[in-house]
Parts: sequence; structure tokens; C-alpha cells
Amino acid sequence: MILDINGRAYEVAADADETLLWVLRDRLGLAGTKYGCGGGYCGACTVHLDGRPIRACQLPAGEAQGRAVRTVEGLADGEQLHPVQQAFVDEQVPQCGWCMNGQMMSAVALLERTPSPTRDEIDAAMAGNLCRCGCYVRRRRRRGRRVSGRR
Ligand code: FES
Repeated sequence: MILDINGRAYEVAADADETLLWVLRDRLGLAGTKYGCGGGYCGACTVHLDGRPIRACQLPAGEAQGRAVRTVEGLADGEQLHPVQQAFVDEQVPQCGWCMNGQMMSAVALLERTPSPTRDEIDAAMAGNLCRCGCYVRRRRRRGRRVSGRR
């Protein structure tokens, strides 16, 4: 199958029902998408499909054919971090870091469709991204910063 990931076409020899998570990680080496629960609950595996955040552990890779997949590897522009990545660094959001890539993917999706979200909109958009270290206050801190208009 051919998958469009971060603007690049990848030819992948995988069964169509293999999850996108394992195709990304094991077959393509895009290990920024993390495995957490494997059941669609934690959000560690969040990627964008046609601009919407989805759980890569729940999507058969075959269903991503002909659609645009964006992973955390697709956020930065060369050495230039995406504003959300930079904000997470500046605010020292991560502790263990395992959930952060999924957190950032959900935050980017939110800010691209709602550049100045309310606290409630942030909480609603990020509710599916669980963090056992307790990053919830810091990830909300930069609300209102404009990060849309990028890819
Ligand atoms: Fe996909 Fe937890 S690993 S939601």
C-alpha cells in the first residue's frame, strides 16, 4: 500500500488491517508515535488524518490510504520547532515524556482549527490525552498563542 505521511509517499508492505501505529513504528521507523495502552484510551499514539487527530493504534493502515497522515516527525520545519513544540519546551511540559508527542499532536490540531481556544475548549480537545505525571496545568498555559497557518 502507499501511504502519504508528512507529505511524503511511502510504499509499505503490510496487511491492510495492520494498525497504522505499528506500520509507522515498526515498518517505517517513525517511532515518535508512541504505544501506550493499545486500546484507544490514552492518546499516546495520536496522529493527524486529514488534519484531524486520531488514534493510530485503532486505525487499520489500509484506511489511511489516499489520506494525509501527519505524525510528530512532520511538525518541525527542519531545525525549526513547530510553535507548539517550542511552547512545550518553554513551559517544560514533559516529565517522563512518553505521552508528549500525542499531546502535541492534539494541541496542534486544536490550534489549527481554533487559534485562540478557551480553557474549556482546551480541556475538551486534550481530554483524551492522558498523562500520569501530571502535565495538565502546564500544557494549558500558552492558550491563545497563534500557531495556525503552518502545514
Ligand atoms: Fe493508542 Fe493508547 S496507544 S490510545
